[in-house]
Amino acid sequence: MKKHKLKKIIPGKELKQKVAQLGKKISKDYARANPVLVGILKGSFVFLADLVRELDIPHEVDFISVASYGSETKATGVVKLLKDLSINIKGRHVIIVEDIVDTGLTLNYIRRNLLTRSPKTLEIITLLDKKKRRKINVPLKYVGFSIPGEFVIGYGLDYNEQYRNLPFIAKII
Ligand code: IMP
Ligand code: MG
Repeated sequence: MKKHKLKKIIPGKELKQKVAQLGKKISKDYARANPVLVGILKGSFVFLADLVRELDIPHEVDFISVASYGSETKATGVVKLLKDLSINIKGRHVIIVEDIVDTGLTLNYIRRNLLTRSPKTLEIITLLDKKKRRKINVPLKYVGFSIPGEFVIGYGLDYNEQYRNLPFIAKII
């Protein structure tokens, strides 16, 4: 695959600091709640892996995988469930873990889907927020970084399935 020229926009050191802060906050807010952290595959896997290692409270991890129809640049909001949770979240404190919120359409679908299962609470954490691109409002309890509407890669985020391994957030130039 062709190598692209990348411009680093969030260095690994800043990611690490932010993830530690978020982990501390969640550990405080959910001290006796034994929350279920639900990672949205695939993009959230790096963030989630680092986040749970900053938690010092009991918690469980699960994953959900969805496919959005339409390209990265033209989200439609039509979502198909590819892999469901394995944990029953009824009566549980659930935190959805997302890599990036763009239009909000994917997350809105997942949130509504999970709400039908009667969790005790349902909140969202996202590492990155492209607020200006939002088409539908989704309540975000924890946000790592607000960024401009440009396409970014690294730390779990891909371009054609590449670059998820980068230990920093970059854009392609
Ligand atoms: P939304 O439904 O428009 O909010 O899109 C959310 C999903 O699109 C994210 O979970 C990502 O998988 C993907 N996505 C949105 N923006 C970017 C980006 O800048 N880089 C990589 N993936 C992105
Ligand atoms: Mg995603």
